[in-house]
Amino acid sequence: MKTYLGYFSLYMLYLFLLVLYLAASVPSAAKTMVWGPGLEANIVLPARFFFIQAVDSSGRNFTTSPGEKTFEVKMVSPAEPFVRIWIQVLDRNDGSFLVRYRMYATYTDLQINILLKNKHVAKSPFILKGRSCHEGCDCPQPSGSVWEEHMHCSQSFPQIDRDLAHYASVDPDRNAEEIPQRFGQRQSLCHYTVKDNKVYVQTFGEHVGFRIFMDAILLSLTRKVQLPDVEFFVNLGDWPLEKRKSTEKIHPIFSWCGSNSTRDIVMPTYDLTESVLETMGRVSLDMMSVQSNTGPLWPEKNATAFWRGRDSRQERLELVKLSRAHPDMIDAAFTNFFFFKHDESLYGPLVKHVSFFDFFKYKYQINIDGTVAAYRLPYLLAGDSVVLKQDSSYYEHFYNELRPWEHYIPIKADLSDLLEKIEWARDHDEEVKKIALAGQQFARHHLMGDSIFCYYYKLLKEYAKLQVTTPKVREGMELVEQPTDDLFPCSCHRMRSKDEL
Ligand SMILES: *[C@@H]1O[C@H](CO)[C@@H](O)[C@H](O)[C@H]1NC(C)=O
Ligand SMILES: *[C@@H]1O[C@H](CO)[C@@H](O)[C@H](O)[C@H]1NC(C)=O
Ligand SMILES: *[C@@H]1O[C@H](CO)[C@@H](O)[C@H](O)[C@H]1NC(C)=O
Repeated sequence: MKTYLGYFSLYMLYLFLLVLYLAASVPSAAKTMVWGPGLEANIVLPARFFFIQAVDSSGRNFTTSPGEKTFEVKMVSPAEPFVRIWIQVLDRNDGSFLVRYRMYATYTDLQINILLKNKHVAKSPFILKGRSCHEGCDCPQPSGSVWEEHMHCSQSFPQIDRDLAHYASVDPDRNAEEIPQRFGQRQSLCHYTVKDNKVYVQTFGEHVGFRIFMDAILLSLTRKVQLPDVEFFVNLGDWPLEKRKSTEKIHPIFSWCGSNSTRDIVMPTYDLTESVLETMGRVSLDMMSVQSNTGPLWPEKNATAFWRGRDSRQERLELVKLSRAHPDMIDAAFTNFFFFKHDESLYGPLVKHVSFFDFFKYKYQINIDGTVAAYRLPYLLAGDSVVLKQDSSYYEHFYNELRPWEHYIPIKADLSDLLEKIEWARDHDEEVKKIALAGQQFARHHLMGDSIFCYYYKLLKEYAKLQVTTPKVREGMELVEQPTDDLFPCSCHRMRSKDEL
């Protein structure tokens, strides 16, 4: 009898705990959190986005997915029954979701409903009061400072300050003379003038195809905000150009990559820029899709360090040799040989291209320079693996804000401590997981579309302030036309007067 009662109370306790557990493992509509730029009408981005953090009824954040289809997002406009908006809810597998949407027309008082089993989540419905322009809308905000406020841009970007500190002033007239003479035919350069918010360009050199990225970001910016009149040169090549030491003699050149031994002014890389402009428009990688394709959770990730790429630098050859000598530590292989002679006895056979998402089956991602900085770093950080970053004299616009041991594990330029660092990582799993998360947070905060637009704007604005002669549309420049949005045209003036009525 006694044992029977004992069993019975144990059984009840078990039931009780099970009920508690089940109650805790469903998200609460009221406690779940929703935030982000995509909930504000005035933050115009090619792909707008916001976040959902699942929280249970006791207020605890989910740290694993509550299920891909947990939340439903619907958008409606009071004026139109069917909105032309493409919505994706991306499960980040860490208890949070990234919702992104692309608008193909402009709407007034757009309503965003976020539902959990037909119940409104947090403060849903969210109303985007007033007009929400779509990306094609050519409706620049006349005041730059109002736009910056709407966008919640950072007050300053240390890298911009650092880069512009080399220039007490810039003289557009002098640069228009001297820069083409100095670099013109040997390099691929674009000479831009933005005047009355219209973009003009002249190209120098043979290989100028990459100007499409610069044209695209300038056109997109000028659709959103009135830029100051500004004249500048963009280097379309891989390598930064200004090697002179004397500050009197240097020329301001905007480049996608900077280096310790040059004075170029860095901008977000063309790759990151394009990924922002074409989010949901391109099939390949972007900063959002990568967040929902990070493979197995940390404990299930493979503890071999991983790398794939082409032979664009000597250290990459060393890395692959190291991998062949220590296959239990490193899985590094070439997918392409182009720069060096392929010696299969040294470097093994070429391997098949691996989808970037599959990189995240591995805990440790090796980031090693290519021709210049490896432009994959933003995506590697955005994943949930940890980055082992080679010390390098090349940098992108955000590298100076990254801290070793906080956002990534540093390795020496010659890779001499790589094996040691992998061993350290294997012995310090909890610490390393924290570094992986901090790197991911950094990417989520600083490398998404809103930050990239802010960076370009701030750079042009600060640079424009240094000009001591008036920027001009020079002979030989052509107008870069805004694409016409025939399908869903958008005229701000007509809409504005309609609003006023
Ligand atoms: C829960 O998640 C939100 C959003 O990521 C975060 O701001 C908050 O600090 C987290 N709360 C706890 C208790 O970890
Ligand atoms: C981890 O990855 C390495 C290299 O790709 C592979 O040889 C090994 O079998 C994997 N380990 C597990 C447990 O899957
Ligand atoms: C480049 O400069 C940075 C910042 O001063 C420094 O941390 C890094 O070690 C330098 N790298 C090389 C390879 O020169």
